[in-house]
Amino acid sequence: MRILAIESSCDETSAAVLEKKDTEIKVLSNITATSLSLHASTGGIIPENAARMQVTYIMPVVIEALLSSNNLEDEKLNNFNIQQTDYHSIPPERIIQANTILSSAIDAISITYGPGLIGSLLVGVETAKTLAYIFQKPLIPVNHLLAHIFANYINRKEAEINYPFVGLIVSGGHTDLLLFNSTSDFEWLGGTRDDAAGEAFDKIGRLIDLPYPAGPEIEKRSSLVSTPSIKFKSPLLHDESFDFSFSGLKTEVLRFVQSNSVIDTNLKNQICYATQKAITDVLVKKTHHAAQRFNARMILVGGGVSANQTFRNALSENSDIPVLFPEKQYSTDNGAMIGAYALINPLERTWQETKANPELYFG
Ligand code: KG4
Ligand code: ZN
Repeated sequence: MRILAIESSCDETSAAVLEKKDTEIKVLSNITATSLSLHASTGGIIPENAARMQVTYIMPVVIEALLSSNNLEDEKLNNFNIQQTDYHSIPPERIIQANTILSSAIDAISITYGPGLIGSLLVGVETAKTLAYIFQKPLIPVNHLLAHIFANYINRKEAEINYPFVGLIVSGGHTDLLLFNSTSDFEWLGGTRDDAAGEAFDKIGRLIDLPYPAGPEIEKRSSLVSTPSIKFKSPLLHDESFDFSFSGLKTEVLRFVQSNSVIDTNLKNQICYATQKAITDVLVKKTHHAAQRFNARMILVGGGVSANQTFRNALSENSDIPVLFPEKQYSTDNGAMIGAYALINPLERTWQETKANPELYFG
């Protein structure tokens, strides 16, 4: 089965083509345009701006994903900068070729329907519904959060993933622990009571003037610290629940910043190190605790924060069971993970039933 997947829940516009063959999921193309630089200039995402950029990018990204999935040799068709175009400037021959691929080689269309920003979600959902209707393809709506976990199926055989497993979602908007008994049967164990782990990285980064999103920069600066000199509290570290809380950490860092009149590069790096450690320690401890409590056979992690190598090492090092992460390119938001989820759980809905749901959780 070959599937076109579309993701537009926030500031990334992404489309991918995936194929499931002999129980293995392969990505044939994964094209992402991002409006991140626009949001870096405002220090965070302004939803209206994100939605407008989704409109600009959605068709070029879908067309590019379809064309790239077909290994085109034609240079005129390949030599194309996705970030510098909009629908009106796409050469007609590209559109015709993409139409042919969609109608003849694609078996279904999958789409993120939530959670996310309503304006951004609507662009992807309405595009996918329209394509499904015109090309008469089955439509598979996908929960973005679950897709972060199922990104682990990409380039792995289905049998390599053993149930039950504990799933940890660590992204800019969510921090959740779940127990998966099968591909579609899962139980929510706990989540953040306030800020998400990625949000904590980003907000703390803003306190020390790091560019948005701050997670990757905090990771880079932490690696420069050989002798840690400060420590922040890891919130809820000794609490038995599977809940998290990161807003207290942000307040602790704010107080620390306010109490130091000069924050030089060395101190900034120390703040990064202590922040990363405080966040990582509690994520690792609670995930291992959940795995032990429920006799999980594996731990699967997903979401932007799972790109952090220090976190990856810490979670893997002290684990008795295998810990799987997606390839780093599939940790942050991408279309391929939406296709992976849909290929494992091909639950069709009519286009009339498919609606954007910004508040979607694990209902
Ligand atoms: O999953 P994602 O791309 O988008 C959401 O669904 O939210 O996650 C984005 C988040 C941002 O908060 C970003 O700072 C964080 O992931 N992030 C990282 C790293 N790369 C991205 N956090 C820590 N270390 C990283 N290397
Ligand atoms: Zn995400």
